Amino acid sequence: DGEAYRKIDAEISGMLPNLPKEKGWASEDLVQYQGFWIHPTFALKAAVQLQHHFNLFQTTGSSTSAASGSLPMYFLATLPKSGTTWLRALMFATLNRSLYDAASPHHPLLTTGPHDCFPFLEMDNMLGNHDHSRPVTSLDHDHHDDRDGGDAMIDNYVPPTSTTQLFATHLPYSLFPKSVTTSSSTYGVSKFVYVCRNPKDVFISLWKFGSKVKAVNTGLAPFSLEEAFELFCRGVCPYGPYWDHVLGFWKASLEMPEQVLFLKYEDLRKEPSANVKRLAEFLGQPFSKEEESKGVVQQIIKLCSFENLSSLEINKTSRTQQYFVKANIVVENSDFFRKGQVGDWKNFFTDDMTKRMDQIIDERFSGSGLTF
Ligand code: A3P
Repeated sequence: DGEAYRKIDAEISGMLPNLPKEKGWASEDLVQYQGFWIHPTFALKAAVQLQHHFNLFQTTGSSTSAASGSLPMYFLATLPKSGTTWLRALMFATLNRSLYDAASPHHPLLTTGPHDCFPFLEMDNMLGNHDHSRPVTSLDHDHHDDRDGGDAMIDNYVPPTSTTQLFATHLPYSLFPKSVTTSSSTYGVSKFVYVCRNPKDVFISLWKFGSKVKAVNTGLAPFSLEEAFELFCRGVCPYGPYWDHVLGFWKASLEMPEQVLFLKYEDLRKEPSANVKRLAEFLGQPFSKEEESKGVVQQIIKLCSFENLSSLEINKTSRTQQYFVKANIVVENSDFFRKGQVGDWKNFFTDDMTKRMDQIIDERFSGSGLTF
């Protein structure tokens, strides 16, 4: 109900002036909340809701039906620019493969941006943003230019599966309360698929993406490469520090491998089939022998490939991420597809930058078992 949400708003207004603040990469600024640099409106609100008001959050967070409060929540967790778009597509195609044949010319991903296949936790959870009385049936792209923030858009998500609630999130593991991360939750076992990408490529991808989005949405000048690098090294980037975000999920994946799957962008690039099989198994839907021999894994990989997705009309010419459209933030679908390569950082880093980043990686990750 509205009352509880007014309380959250009041709580946020009270804390906002006291939070450390820095310039944003894609937005005007970022605030530091419990150690992480996040967007001062939607991400902060989601973090507070998640931590203190989980019940409300849970019952309003679904895109499926009001009764889904008892369904386990599956999260795709990433730092921005680590492969969210790719994994959204892979998870959607994998989990829904009995509904939608990956080789079909009518697969929803051929006409739907990966960001519209299932909700974004930080922006699709606010009370009042959902109308659960309407069933989720099909996608409607007529809304992509609708800037009035109408409720209809959220209702147009394809239902991920009938047995889970699927969300993408950038929030760090430490901001999730025990009621979500432990199996004793009344909502069943929550699972996290985390995608980690090497920090140098994340940095370049973020700088490129942020520069464009910031200019379009705020009119502010983007960071120079040097300024961006300084901030990144100090940990100031969306949902950063990078190392704390990655280590939070890395440690959780070591402690609870059943609940947290830690994937690497680079591994997915090198060995897509082995990693997509790991993904399916982790999500409780392993590929059968028959599926494997029919080439279903390869079909999913091909469908979700950078080459395929980035060449589709919907991803070349539309702006359909419903959560951004609703918030009046302009991001083109094509902004999520740049090069999709491993090692593009080499085209930008000076020797000094490489040395400095390597030193930070050394300091932060030594002894963790994680290498880049
Ligand atoms: P680059 O900027 O290095 O090209 P996110 O989806 O988390 O925002 O990350 C965006 C990055 O993933 C971009 O990296 C983008 O090109 C890349 N990407 C998008 N779709 C991809 C896909 N299907 N396969 C591989 N990489 C993809």
